[in-house]
Amino acid sequence: MMTDEKVVLQGSRRSEQRIGVLCIGMDSSSRESLDVLVVQTPGAYVVDNVDWHITPREAMKMLEPYQHRICVIDFEDGTEKGCRVAQRLRDGCDSSLGIFAAAGGSDPEQIMAAMRSGCSEYLVKPFQPERISHALAHVAARPQGKSGDLVKGRIVTVMGAKGGTGATSLALHLALNLVQRHGQKCLLVDEHLAFGDASLYLGLGRHQYSFYELVHNTDRLDADLLRGFLLRHPSGLDVLDSPEAIDGFPQPSPEAIEHTLSFLGENYQFVIIDCPPGLTEESCAAIRQSDRLAIVITPELPAIRNAIRSIEYLTSMHYSADSIDIVLNRHSKKSALSDHEVEAALHRPIAVRIPNNYGEIVNAINAGTPIEFGHRSDLPAAFDYWADRLTGSEGDIPRANKGSRGWFGIFGSRVEG
Ligand SMILES: Nc1ncnc2c1ncn2[C@@H]1O[C@H](COP(=O)(O)OP(=O)(O)O)[C@@H](O)[C@H]1O
Ligand SMILES: [Mg+2]
Repeated sequence: MMTDEKVVLQGSRRSEQRIGVLCIGMDSSSRESLDVLVVQTPGAYVVDNVDWHITPREAMKMLEPYQHRICVIDFEDGTEKGCRVAQRLRDGCDSSLGIFAAAGGSDPEQIMAAMRSGCSEYLVKPFQPERISHALAHVAARPQGKSGDLVKGRIVTVMGAKGGTGATSLALHLALNLVQRHGQKCLLVDEHLAFGDASLYLGLGRHQYSFYELVHNTDRLDADLLRGFLLRHPSGLDVLDSPEAIDGFPQPSPEAIEHTLSFLGENYQFVIIDCPPGLTEESCAAIRQSDRLAIVITPELPAIRNAIRSIEYLTSMHYSADSIDIVLNRHSKKSALSDHEVEAALHRPIAVRIPNNYGEIVNAINAGTPIEFGHRSDLPAAFDYWADRLTGSEGDIPRANKGSRGWFGIFGSRVEG
């Protein structure tokens, strides 16, 4: 006990030496043994034990806080399976990631296969303390990777606090803004289990395959398969449609949804999810994979009450409160509830305000042609502000979207809904 405490203290003081070890498909006794052996190297910890279909993005997210990162793949379930995971990590992660194989014996063919697929160490069970400390030291001596290079795309879930708050309209205009103004490679995912509106609002026909068909093919997911599922908007925005029929396929598993979204995050700079309201298994899976969650409210009590409950639930499930943005749609100075009252009820600031502009939104939806960005109206400017926030360029328009100054005071025009 004393020794462990000392090691932890040493580790936290020498933060530049932090080493994170992620086990993949490890049996419980081997994991327990690694837990004990890894902490004997100061600053080193076993982060978790995950199953074999982890993606590079998921692995790097878990190891992000660590300076040096290692994945230990258990090869006992089969050489082929182990090699597949190792190759996936090698291809999708920074070269500074240490990939180790663990196995019960020293089969020369398995050792060769593991090395060829990217493993730099082959650890024989039961693990020997010196082998582990030696292997960790080897990775710690390598040049470090930058975590920014590793997690490529950002996933943003846009969810209405209740139906009809405008989540679909907002998600697709945000996605279009990211494509058109920021030149981002962007995908809009319609996560509704049936009858989603996103492709309709964008004026695209229905695709014969939906996001959920992709989820059901998660085992053979690659860029070629994905291509066959995409709708393409003339702007360059890619869309994964919602299913047309409600009973077309079995219930998707949350793990498969998470895995699919993680894969998509590796293929786009931004993945925007038009998420149905309500904390269902499907929406929670999307939220877990998201870097940010935008909860769309309107200035009315039922929406605000649902938003409060959703935030309470999500934070109790360890979703970071800092990753949640409140997006107030249909904002107007004439609303019965002031911005201040909304913020006081939610105990958090409104991150983005989208003005009430029924005419412009409904015309866009009816025509299947989204609002145009770049013209001097309050509506596109609100999406500019939101997209700028997400891409980290909001400093360019410092006073935009501040409720207390009226809409877009910098343009000198105040528009009320
Ligand atoms: N900013 C806005 N101003 C006025 N009307 C809006 C605004 N945003 C959305 N709406 C309208 O609200 C209705 C619901 O929008 P929709 O995007 O389908 O919501 P949800 O996806 O949350 O059900 C639509 O008729 C849409 O035109
Ligand atoms: Mg909708």
